[in-house]
Amino acid sequence: MTWHLVLTVDRKAPLPLTVQVRNSLRALIEDRTLWPGTRLPSTRQLAADLEVSRSVVVDAYEQLSAEGYLETRPGSGTTVSSRAHAEAGASTLVARDPEPVPETMWDLRTGTSNVVDFPRQEWVRCVAAVMNSAGRQELGYSAPAGVPLTRRVLTGYLGRVRGVRGRPEDLMITAGFAQGLALICAVLLGRGHTELGVEDPGHPGEREFITSAGLRPVGIPVDDDGLRVDLLERSGVRAVLVTPGNQFPTGVRLAQARRERLIAWAREVGGYVIEDDFDSTFLHRADRLPSLQSMAPDHVVYAGSASKALAPALRLGWLAAPSELMASIEGVRAGWDIGCSGLEQLAFTRFVDTGGFDRHQRALRSEFHRRRQVLRQHAETCLPGSRLLGRDSGLQGYLELPAHTDEHALVRAARRRHVLVRGGHFYTLGPTPRPPALVISYATANATALARGLLALGHAYQETSG
Ligand SMILES: Cc1ncc(COP(=O)(O)O)c(C=O)c1O
Repeated sequence: MTWHLVLTVDRKAPLPLTVQVRNSLRALIEDRTLWPGTRLPSTRQLAADLEVSRSVVVDAYEQLSAEGYLETRPGSGTTVSSRAHAEAGASTLVARDPEPVPETMWDLRTGTSNVVDFPRQEWVRCVAAVMNSAGRQELGYSAPAGVPLTRRVLTGYLGRVRGVRGRPEDLMITAGFAQGLALICAVLLGRGHTELGVEDPGHPGEREFITSAGLRPVGIPVDDDGLRVDLLERSGVRAVLVTPGNQFPTGVRLAQARRERLIAWAREVGGYVIEDDFDSTFLHRADRLPSLQSMAPDHVVYAGSASKALAPALRLGWLAAPSELMASIEGVRAGWDIGCSGLEQLAFTRFVDTGGFDRHQRALRSEFHRRRQVLRQHAETCLPGSRLLGRDSGLQGYLELPAHTDEHALVRAARRRHVLVRGGHFYTLGPTPRPPALVISYATANATALARGLLALGHAYQETSG
């Protein structure tokens, strides 16, 4: 195997060649050009590349190994040592958790999805089929808004499953919902908006994103029927981001009367509702209403993502927007990038087209439903006095706790018992008081692990309640 290395020697310099090689390599490691684990060329190959005798490189490697910069293992060659940066006295670039994280047994925090059950074989078949047939066009640049076939197939899928209305031209493929949101914020900013309404409680990461995009997130309280549209009306904002199908993180659904009032508000203020529909395919048929977008495609931007439905690593999302807004979104995007990976889009298209996506959603839906029952049953026994909000759908549960519960103490006690979980506080923005709560994600823990995690959580609850 040939491993290239950015290194030169100066034959005219007074320093011996082996010292030059040693010093240059050490400098590359210390300034983090070479990272721990990086493979280095064999002594024979580097000597040939530098046109020096092999003993020059052997001596340099030996010296750096003795200093802790390099590691040599039989059969796997020489690599930059995993201790290299510590040896160099430098701090790590990776931010450390302020409290040491115990060897986690139960991670019940939101933000992840069930990637363990990723349909690897079906996906590989789709990728292989795409690669076997990809011609010049497929391997070249695709339209920035997305591969036309993907937009066509996805438009059909979203119409069928979520009632989304619109033409393939009104659908854009984005690098996850995150990019879609950033694009919309940029367009709103360009149109004079300074604020964007967000649900409270809601997603703290999204709020940060909105702030970085230059808009002020304005929290609109959520109750058991979803967003308080009456308070939205009084807020003065002209655009709002909502999760109407399954509110994040409470899991409540926006009541029909509020859906209608929200649309009426958007029409009245000439504004936009951004519908984040990131996990609606996990809702049970009885709980699933058609998308809000289907009620008013001229005022609702529909946004979806493969992050929960498949895996966040795909960075695949989509936006369906009113035509005039889509034109502005495309204009902004033209200055950002040249679209997402066409090959990934085509693999996804095939996955959707051959029924794999529907199948996977159905399987996840029933698995999550099973986990939800475990949460419901254990919450009753392990966290007495708690109230599970929302419908029996989705991939997390919002548990309101009795008013006297010390939420922060409970989260800390849970952590000591190897349960990572977040309190309701983590998701809130405004001053509106809410009962203490825990948000428990069952995206990663299977039913058995979840039950055990909840038992441990119950002990933490007893400890902090007594
Ligand atoms: C509320 C919400 N919206 C959207 C997403 C999906 O974001 P993305 O597609 O950028 O991964 C997530 C993922 O965690 C989420 O929690």
